[in-house]
Amino acid sequence: MTEIQHAQLAADTAAAGGVVMLVGAPDTGKTTLSHQIMTEGVKAGKSIAYVDADVGQSTVGPPTCVGLRWINSADDLDNLSKAVELRVVGSTSPERLVLQQVLATATLVDVGRRSADLVVIDTTGAVSGVVGQTLKYHKMELCRPELVVALQRGAEMEPVIGMLRRFFAGRVETLPVDPEVAPVSPHERSELRQAGFAVAFEDPLERWRVRPTVFAPTISAGLDFARLNGVLVGVQDGEGRCLGLGALEYDEGVLRVVTNCGEGMQGLRLGSLRVDLKNHKVQRVNLREVMFGLDR
Ligand SMILES: Nc1ncnc2c1ncn2[C@@H]1O[C@H](COP(=O)(O)OP(=O)(O)OP(=O)(O)O)[C@@H](O)[C@H]1O
Ligand SMILES: [Mg+2]
Repeated sequence: MTEIQHAQLAADTAAAGGVVMLVGAPDTGKTTLSHQIMTEGVKAGKSIAYVDADVGQSTVGPPTCVGLRWINSADDLDNLSKAVELRVVGSTSPERLVLQQVLATATLVDVGRRSADLVVIDTTGAVSGVVGQTLKYHKMELCRPELVVALQRGAEMEPVIGMLRRFFAGRVETLPVDPEVAPVSPHERSELRQAGFAVAFEDPLERWRVRPTVFAPTISAGLDFARLNGVLVGVQDGEGRCLGLGALEYDEGVLRVVTNCGEGMQGLRLGSLRVDLKNHKVQRVNLREVMFGLDR
């Protein structure tokens, strides 16, 4: 029964086109349903933009980034990892960086909307509490989807759904979670993220010397650069795009960025993680603490 509902929604959504956003708690089948909608879209001959806004369990592009991919054939769906455009958020949990998360997603949805018949937004499982709801509210506000599909167990999404229906014109549909959906353990999630960072930092890595003036947010002249060691950065071009990830390295008085996407680099956006390039494990950092020594 659930299977039929999902298949019907995928076919109807693909036929209608426009922007659709999938929301739901972790492990509710958002990514799987995104694929199903896009498979139907390809069959219906639609040009599709897939915006992967899940910065923790990324399908398109590296973790910490929102990625855009054009989908025009079934083959494209088998090979989603390479993004055509990226926007860096800087964390694997959007709860900490709501502004960056919302803007990164909305910017790529706009790029998608300009050229594709169908834009599919896959989101993170952050849906509850003040932060999760604020995130979804502003995503709705800026991405302006014609349809939101909320996957829910029981009535868990009702608060978010009620809020979106009250404040916005887009249609909000609910679907039950398929009972076959298998939860991914925290350990598996962390291993998947590590594998994602390993790909983002695969060879050929280069070390580029960087001036302290290239950062956003800017860093103060008096900062002890050793504090920046290992900090994750988005490598930016001069048109707002992220080219990929880098990690800062401070050694013998010289600040460098280690990256495999330094061609065309115009600046670096500071992320809120430190990455160990030996094992690709990450740790949260508080930028304010790094910059000013304040622990809040
Ligand atoms: N209809 C289904 N039948 C069988 N297995 C499914 C179905 N939908 C999802 N799954 C499986 O359940 C797992 C979780 O699904 P999926 O990744 O789509 O969820 P998600 O909501 O995107 O999760 P996350 O919050 O991690 O992004 C996956 O291993 C997927 O293959
Ligand atoms: Mg997913």
